Amino acid sequence: MSRLTSHPILDLENITFIREPRTILDNVTWQIQPGMHTALLGGNGSGKTTLIRILTGYEWPTDGEVTVLGKRFGSCCLPDVRRHIGLVSSAIAPRFPAQADPLDIVAAGVDAALGIFRDFTRSELARARAALEALNAGHLIGREYSTLSQGEQQRVQIARALIARPALLALDEPCGGLDPAARAHFLDDLAQLARSESAPTLLLVTHHIDEIGPWIKRVTALKNGQIFQEGSRDEMLCDSVLGKVFGCKCRVQKEGSVYSMRVNSAGISNSFVEY
Ligand SMILES: Nc1ncnc2c1ncn2[C@@H]1O[C@H](COP(=O)(O)OP(=O)(O)OP(=O)(O)O)[C@@H](O)[C@H]1O
Ligand SMILES: [Mg+2]
Repeated sequence: MSRLTSHPILDLENITFIREPRTILDNVTWQIQPGMHTALLGGNGSGKTTLIRILTGYEWPTDGEVTVLGKRFGSCCLPDVRRHIGLVSSAIAPRFPAQADPLDIVAAGVDAALGIFRDFTRSELARARAALEALNAGHLIGREYSTLSQGEQQRVQIARALIARPALLALDEPCGGLDPAARAHFLDDLAQLARSESAPTLLLVTHHIDEIGPWIKRVTALKNGQIFQEGSRDEMLCDSVLGKVFGCKCRVQKEGSVYSMRVNSAGISNSFVEY
C-alpha cells in the first residue's frame, strides 16, 4: 500500500468505547493530517491508551469508524494497514517472546508481528541490526529479551517500530523507565526523526510537557474520554488550559523552547511541586 497523502493519516469518527458500566471514550472525532506531529495529553484514566489501542487495531470501538491512510477498519485487511502504523508502548512489551533475541524481535517489525513466526532473510536481519545500531542498541543483539532493562526493551521496541517505515508512529509514554540521559538522547532522536524527510507522522502520548518539543505541531487534550481542547503548543501549554486538563492549580514556564509545569501541591497554598 502506498502512502496516500491525499487522505488524513488518521480519521476517527464518533468513536465510543464502553466497558459497562463505564463509557471510556465518548464520541471522539479526531483527524491527523500527514506531518502533523501531535502530542496527546490527559490525566490518568482519561482514555489515551485506549484511543491508541483502537487506532492501532488492538481494540475495537463499541461505536464509530476508524480510518487509517484511507483504509477503513472493518472493510480492509487489518494486518496490511497495521504495517503502516508503528506502536511503542509499555503495554505491548510483555507480549514479545521472552527468550527471543532482540534482533529477531526487531526484524519481526517488518511483518508488524508481536511474535516470531518465520525465519528472516539476510537483508531483513541487516536492516534490524542497522535499526538497533542507530539507537545505540547494537550491543543488545544476542541477549534474551526478558533480561533487558526497561530502557533497553524500549529501544528494541522503537527499532522494531521504525524498521517497517510506518506512516504513523504512536508512542505511548515512551520515556517511562528511561534514565535522564537516555531520556534526553531519546527526545533528541525523536526531534531529529520528526525533522527528517522520510519521517512518519508522530503521535506522542505523555504527561510531561517538557517532552513536547518544538517539533510538535499540535497538542490535543483528552478529559473524561472526550476531546477537551486542541491547539498549538503555545495555546495549549499554559496555566489555564493545563489546570483544567489535569484538574489542578499549576504554573507553566517556558525556558528557551522547553516548557515545564509545576503543580500546586494539595492543601498547601502557594507551594508548587515540579511535575
Ligand atoms: N478493557 C477495559 N475494561 C475496563 N476498563 C477499562 C478497559 N480499558 C481501559 N479501561 C479503563 O478506562 C479508563 C481509561 O484507560 P486508559 O488506559 O485509556 O487511560 P490513560 O489515559 O491511558 O491513563 P494513564 O495516563 O494512566 O495511562 C481507565 O479508567 C481504565 O481503567
Ligand atoms: Mg495510558
